[in-house]
Amino acid sequence: MRKNYRSAFFSQEPFVQEIRAWNESYEKETGRKRRFFCFTMGCQMNAHDSEKIVGMLTEMGYEPTTSEEEADFVIYNTCCIRENAEQKVYGKLGWLSHLKRRNPYLIIALCGCMVQQDSVLEKLKKSYAYVDLVFGTHNLYRLPALLETYLNTGEPVWDIWQESKEIVEDMPSTRGRAFQASVNIMYGCNNFCTYCIVPYVRGRERSRSMADILEEVRRLAEDGVKEILFLGQNVNSYGKTLTPPVPFATLLREAAKIDGIERIRFMTSHPKDLSDELIAAMAETKKVCHYLHLPIQSGSSRILKAMNRRYTKQQYLDLVDRLRAAIPDIFLSTDIIVGFPGETEEDFEETLDVVRRVGYATAFTFLYSKRTGTPAAVMENQVDEETAHQRFDRLLAELNPRIHDLHESLVGQVLDVLVEEESRQGQGMVSGRTEQNTLVHFAAGPESIGQIVPVRLTQNKTFYFIGERI
Ligand code: SAH
Ligand code: SF4
Ligand code: F3S
Repeated sequence: MRKNYRSAFFSQEPFVQEIRAWNESYEKETGRKRRFFCFTMGCQMNAHDSEKIVGMLTEMGYEPTTSEEEADFVIYNTCCIRENAEQKVYGKLGWLSHLKRRNPYLIIALCGCMVQQDSVLEKLKKSYAYVDLVFGTHNLYRLPALLETYLNTGEPVWDIWQESKEIVEDMPSTRGRAFQASVNIMYGCNNFCTYCIVPYVRGRERSRSMADILEEVRRLAEDGVKEILFLGQNVNSYGKTLTPPVPFATLLREAAKIDGIERIRFMTSHPKDLSDELIAAMAETKKVCHYLHLPIQSGSSRILKAMNRRYTKQQYLDLVDRLRAAIPDIFLSTDIIVGFPGETEEDFEETLDVVRRVGYATAFTFLYSKRTGTPAAVMENQVDEETAHQRFDRLLAELNPRIHDLHESLVGQVLDVLVEEESRQGQGMVSGRTEQNTLVHFAAGPESIGQIVPVRLTQNKTFYFIGERI
């Protein structure tokens, strides 16, 4: 069901106004605005949720600060994809309790994927009861209402929904960069890969209507956005549940017609749903970048089956061949998990074999992390830590020289780079990305930020290039 953040029935507006007035009177009294600190963990989806959180807080009259110590409102948008992400949150919350003792008016909020788990809520109730606001992934848009309740009662407000069928349109959002924007095209995931917590904390798959998405892209283009990133846990199954169904390829072709948008990226693609229609759309639509994130997870068909990924090693390699045949200059990146339960030396060798054959431009590598509630957590034959670590190191040793070799093919080429920011490489340098997502640092002034400029790639540094502006 489609709902609107600003519609009469559903509106957060009265709460926004009330909190804004409260913040404005504070500003009049003290000469400064109340400040928020928002810390984000996890994937692009969470990062985009944080842009919405920042959008709502800004409308409510808060201004950002870069330190918890200076903040009146601290919010952590959490991730639980691996255990270390959760540990980090508990560590930070412990530290916040000291700040709260010093400043009892400090409001602490926790949201995101981690708090969708009952076991986490129990732990929070027991040991971290000083957290004032807790809300999950399904009711993010209600932040103004929840904050208003807290301010009027002084009692903690913990509001977690198990599921949501609705999609809330028209939420405010504050982008980090004026010229790039993320756009949700779908929410949730139905795939239930056996290691993964996402379907439990993000709910079932729901696609936004194409009209709503295109309207958002049009508005972003009018606002100066050149590059959009379509987001979903499995973008290739976008639109299957809409009436009538809309193929993802159609959405790409339609978005590319919008003036002002120059680059279109998307993530994440599940290999099982990547259609020839999509490959054709990528090849034929100039604005769609020749870069694809295509997680393999494991090279062993046996392990892939245990992971419930629903493709084999051979099917994945065939898909890569079809992509390269249609788009010869495409760059691929991937996700790989090492140490999934039951992974043998032979299984791991299969993963190394895929790495040798595909030639990835980037790879995100993870040690398997047991997530309570997922089928893999109770599988026998959990791989011991030492073996997993050794395999992890061997995987990197296999990946990195190949990443370097692939990038050698770019040395001397002149490619268009969208300049993103001033570079940390040094004064007078900026950095940006090519269509294939290669990071390039080169000498230019900050006025080039947001522009697409031709750059000759001169020095291959494996994970980035040094270049010269032409
Ligand atoms: N929807 C995306 C991935 C989302 S999670 C997809 O299907 O590709 C991002 C990555 O985290 C996954 O691709 C996987 O490699 C990794 N991951 C997920 N669960 C994990 C776990 N329990 N342990 C280690 N890595 C995990
Ligand atoms: Fe997790 Fe698999 Fe869904 Fe990706 S497709 S979010 S790995 S369950
Ligand atoms: Fe983490 Fe949730 Fe994303 S678990 S990886 S923030 S969907």
